[in-house]
This record gives sequence, structure tokens and C-alpha cells, in this order.
Amino acid sequence: MLTREENERLTRVGPGTPMGELLRRYWQPICPAAELAGEKPLKRLRILGEDLVVFRMPDARYGLMQERCQHRGASLYYGFLESDGLRCAYHGWKYALDGQCLEQPFEPAGSHFKERVCQPAYPVEQLAGLLFAYLGPPERKPLVPRWDVLVRPDGCRTVFVHPVLEANWLQPMENAVDTVHTYFLHGHMMKMKGISAGEYYLRPILNYEFEPFEWGIIKRRTYGGEHPETEAGHPLIFPNALRVPTGPFHALHWRVPIDDARTQIFEVEFSGSDDGSEVEQADEAIPVEYLPSGMTEDGEYDMLTFPSQDKMAYETAGAIYDRSVEHLGASDRGIALYRKMLREQLAIVEAGGEPMALVRDPAANTIIRFNTSQGQAAWAAQASGYYERQAPPAS
Ligand code: FES
Ligand SMILES: [Fe+2]
Repeated sequence: MLTREENERLTRVGPGTPMGELLRRYWQPICPAAELAGEKPLKRLRILGEDLVVFRMPDARYGLMQERCQHRGASLYYGFLESDGLRCAYHGWKYALDGQCLEQPFEPAGSHFKERVCQPAYPVEQLAGLLFAYLGPPERKPLVPRWDVLVRPDGCRTVFVHPVLEANWLQPMENAVDTVHTYFLHGHMMKMKGISAGEYYLRPILNYEFEPFEWGIIKRRTYGGEHPETEAGHPLIFPNALRVPTGPFHALHWRVPIDDARTQIFEVEFSGSDDGSEVEQADEAIPVEYLPSGMTEDGEYDMLTFPSQDKMAYETAGAIYDRSVEHLGASDRGIALYRKMLREQLAIVEAGGEPMALVRDPAANTIIRFNTSQGQAAWAAQASGYYERQAPPAS
């Protein structure tokens, strides 16, 4: 249980809030690159409570700016893309990618006013079919982490965009360390619906553990029954991602706050080649799939898929769940551990320090692999020790 004040501190993400400042220290995926590759190379976005416009320049560079023009507030989404920047459609002020105002067509010749005007702007990088943005202090900007799922060469990637979640980002993230929810929400639910896909989760859970490591928290389950198994582990990657090993697939999910009450989940799934050989897949060729709503025509959760089941659990707790009325049990110790980690990292940022799990060394960022069966000592930026989990038992 949290006090209302503690709940606010962990959930609010706008500029200037403690959690908003912590989350801004990390690159966040903001949209599939393919969305800007067509006829309309501009898109409006809301990220961490900020209204922004992202755009692709004619030379394929990307820009991300506050949507409202510094002059008199018109939306830059309707602006003109030129070779050196974005020109507002209202009075033609033009901004470079770093936000510096380059032109004010109706100011007197020789005016230096434009030198004092800067549109808030953020850096954007493309990786694995997604655009990543960094909304934090420029002098603190880390590297975009090259997680194995995003860059390993022995297979193909697909980007999945989930329907917008009408819930605060912490709800799906706490679920990332909620190990036992899978039995009823997925395993039993699928069984009751006559769907075999949840059988993996219907095994008795004998034990589960959580291990902090330098990228976040590894959770592991040990199953009994006819198909006993100790999982290699699902790392929560601090602060708002989840690494999922699923049979021959490996996925990475980010839970990106749109604002305090809505969250966009992006997912990159990696599928290895049959023989482990390298596969050519240009970034532009990575397919993008948009998951269905998971809702019935009557506005109920259809509960037929894992995402629909999870969405029900996240959203029905309320847009910003009031944790002052929760009753955490012993089985919720992963959630307690994650909150402790969040609090510690909030305090570090508030004291002017550098939070955990940032990547700054290019040499260690060629490919960041996990060997989750061995915990903390085993993560390494090296090409060995990869794991594969047992496939679910055949139905
Ligand atoms: S409002 Fe953008 S140029 Fe005037
Ligand atoms: Fe789930």
C-alpha cells in the first residue's frame, strides 16, 4: 500500500515531476519509422504529457518538436518541411532540427529576434523499425541501447503496436514483476474459453524469485506438474521495458507513457533463423503490425488473447490506480522490489546523479545480450551464453 503522495510520485510523468524526470533520462520508442515513410512525413504525438510533432526530413533525418509554435501557438504539424527545417504554416517562422529559429519572414530586415527564439526540440534515432526519442537534459543524453532483440543478425524482426492503454504506465510495469498472474489471467482463462494457448501457464508454480541486476530485475518461475521447468527468466529492463523469451521468439516491450492516464505499448519481436544463419533485413523492411483492440462490440474485453486479458487487468484498476487501497501480499514481493528500485533511482536523479541502466560506452553497445539463467554476473556485451526456453507443451 502506498500513501496518496507516494502514488503520485511514482505515477505522474509530466515535465518537472520526479518520475517524469527519471523517465526522461532514457530513450523511449515513440512510433514506427514506417509511419513517416509515406506521403505524410509528419505525425502528432503525446509523450510523457508533452504534445509533440515528429517528422522526417527530405534527407531522411528526423526531428521532434513541441507541437505549438513559439510565435503564436499554431500547430507545427501543418507546417512545411524544407531542406533545413520545419516552417510553421501560420506566419512562416522556420525552425532547425535543434529547434533554433532560422527565419521570421515578417520581422524587419537585420532583426536579431530569431536568435533568441528556440522551439523545444528533442533528438530522434531510428533502430529496429522504431523511432526512439530522448526528452531529457541534452548534456545527460546516453546512447540508444542496442538490446539483442533489436540488433542480433541471426533472424528477423517485427514491430507490434498495441492499442492505446487507458491506464497509467506503472500498471503494466508492475505486471512485469507480477509472476503469479499468468496462472488465472492467462492459463485458466484460456482453458475456460476452450483455447489451448494458455496451457504453458496452467502448470503448478512451485517457486518464483526476483533478482535485481544491473539492467533491472530478473524474474524466474519454477513449474511443477507433468512438465516441470525452471524458466531462464524474464528481465524487467529498468525503468519501463520488459524482455520476454518465448520459445524461439524473443521480444522487448516498452510501456511508454502518453500522459498520466494513457500508455502506448510498443513491442519488437525477434524470430531466429532455423539454422542460426544471418538474415538480411533492412530497417525499412521490418513489418509493423497493429494489434486489434481486444474488445467486443459491446465494449467488453474479449479475453481471448493475452493482450486482451492483460489490458483488462491494467485498465479496470482505474486510469491511475489508487494504491492507497491495495492489499499487497507475499506473492507481490516483485512489485515491492520494483517500487524500491524506482524510489532509489528517483532519489539519485533528484540528488543530481545518474540513474541505473544507462548505456554510455559505444564499445559495450554493439549488442547487449542477456544470459538470464545466471543473473547478475552473466549479462555481457559478448556473443556467447544465449539461452532458449523450452517451448510450451503441445496441446
Ligand atoms: S504561429 Fe507559427 S509562425 Fe506564427
Ligand atoms: Fe500477462
